[in-house]
Amino acid sequence: MAATAMQTHRVNGTPISIVHGPGSPLADLLRSCQRIAQSDATVLISGETGTGKEVVARVIHERSTRAGRALVPVNCGAIPEALLESELFGHVKGAFTGAVASRRGRIAAAEGGTLFLDEIGELPLSLQVKLLRVLQERSYEPVGSAEPIPADFRLIAATNKDLAAEVAAGRFRRDLYYRLLVCPIEVPALRQRRGDIPHLFSHFWAAQGETRTVEPAVMQVLQEHTWPGNVRELENLVERLAVVSEGPSIRVGDLPAHLRSLAGESAEPAPPAPVPLSALPGLPQSRPTFFLPERPSASEQPELDPGHPVDLPAMLRRLEDTYIDAALARTGGNRKAAADLLGLQRTTLVEKLRRRQREAPIA
Ligand SMILES: Nc1ncnc2c1ncn2[C@@H]1O[C@H](COP(=O)(O)OP(=O)(O)O)[C@@H](O)[C@H]1O
Ligand SMILES: [Mg+2]
Repeated sequence: MAATAMQTHRVNGTPISIVHGPGSPLADLLRSCQRIAQSDATVLISGETGTGKEVVARVIHERSTRAGRALVPVNCGAIPEALLESELFGHVKGAFTGAVASRRGRIAAAEGGTLFLDEIGELPLSLQVKLLRVLQERSYEPVGSAEPIPADFRLIAATNKDLAAEVAAGRFRRDLYYRLLVCPIEVPALRQRRGDIPHLFSHFWAAQGETRTVEPAVMQVLQEHTWPGNVRELENLVERLAVVSEGPSIRVGDLPAHLRSLAGESAEPAPPAPVPLSALPGLPQSRPTFFLPERPSASEQPELDPGHPVDLPAMLRRLEDTYIDAALARTGGNRKAAADLLGLQRTTLVEKLRRRQREAPIA
């Protein structure tokens, strides 16, 4: 693959890079971002989870006249409904039990800059009214206050839901929907731009400090996969390959089982991992099935060696990640359905995903 085919869009002063192959729909999308960034209009970015909506929001902000000011992200799906109003609008002292001091909200934090409302489809109806009012009147009242505060921010919203369907179902206000629809941007799923896959792979591979070669059969498998978790899924896979695979080059056998099966090699055993899950009897080795591990019987106790202590927190994190990835893959990236499969609240799953994103090395 010619390295020159990879277009990297770097934004001044920030480590954002958007990678795509030649002729990718992302090239057109970035051109329209350039135009949109020049205006102060509200932007609605839609697309499946992991397609790069937040990256696109950052690019628009960084190319706008508000670039030197804050970009304040708020994930409407990750903050409990009871807290979201005061999180956004702030509150005055005594506004509710526990409001011992007044507090600025994220709208105030975004003053002069950009407010990025992620998963706006999760915004409760009561807050949709309040948000619409701020957009129309350019002022708002913190919780517990009747005094309007002027607001100057640009709104970029993102959603992985079909907002038009949400409007039809009565879960999203039509007036707010049209207000958001001024500049719509649709980020295509990775399977709709398969030409980007090798370029993204090389980018993430290099970001891991990797120089090992990757066998063509591996790329072929990656080309065939449907990528329900999109670019984030690819990024996580690359990280996993860098950590787990040991040979001088990456082979199909190094891929996780659900990908190996695309190459008809599902019978091959999983590659040895630095901390084998087999240390925990009853836990899945490769393709997870959904069951609670039995408590090991005395005869199958894991061997513990004082010379080689296990890293239990890391093992548990990896186990958690394995289940989360499997649940997201099985539900096509639908977080609510994935959370149900895992016996988690949706917000807990979202929080875990954000934690993982925060802890992931920055490319
Ligand atoms: N075109 C791209 N080039 C490089 N990295 C990308 C690209 N698209 C997405 N990413 C990375 O993939 C991950 C998911 O992107 P993100 O913007 O958070 O997706 P979304 O908000 O749609 O769920 C992030 O780590 C991001 O940096
Ligand atoms: Mg996102």
